[in-house]
Amino acid sequence: MRSAPVVQVSRGHDWQRELLRRTVRKKSCGRAVMDLARIWTRKPVAEIVASGEFPIHKLSKVLGPFSIAAMGVGAIIGAGIFVLTGTAAALYAGPAITISFVLAAFACGLVGLCYAELAAFLPVSGSSYTYTYATLGELAAWVIGWDLILEYAMGGAAVAVGWSGYFTSLLKLGGVVLSPRWTAASGQLVHLPDGSHAAAFANVPAAAIVLLITLLLVRGTRESARANNLMVAIKVSVVLAFVVIGATYVDTANWRPFIPANTGEFGSFGPSGILRGASIVFFAYIGFDAVSNCAQEARRPQRDMPIGILGSLAVSTLLYIAVSAVLTGLVPYRELNVADPVAKGVRAIGLHWFAVVIDVGALIGLTTVILVLLYGQGRIFATMSNDGLLPAAGARMHPRFNTPYVSQIIIGLIVAAAAATVPIDTLAELVGVGTLFAFILVCGAVIYLRSAEPHVPRPFRVPSVPWLPLAGIVCCLVLMVGLTPLTWLRLAAWLVLGLVVYFAYGRFHSRLIGQSKGP
Ligand code: ALA
Repeated sequence: MRSAPVVQVSRGHDWQRELLRRTVRKKSCGRAVMDLARIWTRKPVAEIVASGEFPIHKLSKVLGPFSIAAMGVGAIIGAGIFVLTGTAAALYAGPAITISFVLAAFACGLVGLCYAELAAFLPVSGSSYTYTYATLGELAAWVIGWDLILEYAMGGAAVAVGWSGYFTSLLKLGGVVLSPRWTAASGQLVHLPDGSHAAAFANVPAAAIVLLITLLLVRGTRESARANNLMVAIKVSVVLAFVVIGATYVDTANWRPFIPANTGEFGSFGPSGILRGASIVFFAYIGFDAVSNCAQEARRPQRDMPIGILGSLAVSTLLYIAVSAVLTGLVPYRELNVADPVAKGVRAIGLHWFAVVIDVGALIGLTTVILVLLYGQGRIFATMSNDGLLPAAGARMHPRFNTPYVSQIIIGLIVAAAAATVPIDTLAELVGVGTLFAFILVCGAVIYLRSAEPHVPRPFRVPSVPWLPLAGIVCCLVLMVGLTPLTWLRLAAWLVLGLVVYFAYGRFHSRLIGQSKGP
C-alpha cells in the first residue's frame, strides 16, 4: 500500500506538468514559427562586402584579368581531360565524346555568364554560398554550402585518384611497379602481375597526395599568382604539344563510327551515350566557378571577373575539343578505359619519351587542381564556421601561419579517406551532380536578384534575363538526367543529411539569426 500516495502525488505532478508543458508548447510554438521564419534571413550585401573582420578576407588586390583567367585554367584543366575523357569515350560516347564536350561547354557557358554577373556584383569570397546568403537567405545558403562539399572536397578526391594513375604510370616508366592492390579504390577488382584478379585494399598514392597538399595549405603555402601562372603554362604547353604532335599521327579509321550504335541500354553509346558522356566530362569544366573565389584579390573585379571566368572557360573548351578529337583518333576508343589515357595515346604511337612528358605535365596539372579545390573548400568551410553554421573551431586561424588550419585538416582527412576508397567514376558523378545542383541555384539567384534588387548597378549583365539563366537551368537539368539514378539518390541523401545538420546545429548557432533576434 505504500505505493498509493506516491501514485496520487505523482498523478498530481503529472497533471501540473502537463498544464505547464501545454503552456510552454503554445509559447514555444509561436517562438518556433518566428524562429523558423528566420531561416530565410538574408545577409545584407553591405555586410558581405565589408566582411573584413575575417582574416582570410584581408587579401591584397593583386590580380589582373590575365592572372585570373590563368587561375581559372589552373583550376579547370585536370582529371577531366587527363583521365575521364578516356573512360567516357570507352564506356559511353566513343569518338562522339567530342560532341559531349561541346554540350557540356554550352551549359557551362550559360552558367558562367551568371557567375560573371554575380562575381562582378558581389566581389567577395565564398562563391555561390555567399551569393545565396545575400539573395535567397540562410537556409538556401546552407544547402548550397553543404552541396559545395560535393564539388570541392569530392572533386579534390577524384582528381587525387587521377593523380595516382599518372604517378603509378610514371613510376612504372622508371622501373618501379607498385602493387595494383595499393593503387586502386578499396574492393575494386584489379589484375595482378601473375594474371590473377584480386580486390584492391586502398589507393594509397591518392590519399598521400591529399595529405601532402593539406600540410602545405596548413603551412600557408598557397599558389602565388606567379607560381600558378608557371604551372598553368607547363600544363597548357603539354596539352598543346599533345594536340599538335598527336594530330600528325591520327588514324581517321578510329573515328568510324563517330557515334557508335546504342547497345540497347540508356547511356551506352548512341545519342544517350553522348548525353551521359557530357554529364561525365562536365567534370572537366568544374573550376571556372572557383575563379569567383578570388574576386577580393582582383584589381578591378567588375571588369576582371567576367573576363577571367568566361575567358578560362573559352580556352579550356577549345583545348578539350582538340584533345578528345586527337585522342580518339590515336587509339580505338574501347581501349581508352585506363588510368592515364592521354599517356596511353602517346605510347600507342611509339613516342615513349613524350609519354614521360605527358605524365609529368599531368602530375603538375593535377596537383594545382587538387590544391585549388582543397583551398576553396577550406575557405568555404571557414566562412560557414565564421557565420556560425558550422562549429566555430572551423574558423580558427593558425597563430603563426594565419590559415584556417582546423578546417583544412578535417577536410584533408575526409578527402584522403574518400580518395583511398572510392573509384574515380563514382566520385566524378557525385561531384557532377552536386555542382550541377549548385549551378541551378546560381542561375536562379540571378533571376531572383534582378527582380529583388533591380536598381543595384551591375557592371556585367547576363543578356536576356530570365531566358538565358533559365536555359542554363534547363541545360544543367538535362546533364543531371544523364547521370545514373544511384547518383541522384546519393545527392538526395546528402542534402537530407545536410538539412538534419542545419536544423540540429546551424539554426541554433547562426550568427545572423542571433543578431536578428537582438539581445
Ligand atoms: N575540372 C577539374 C578537373 O578536370 C576539376 O580536374
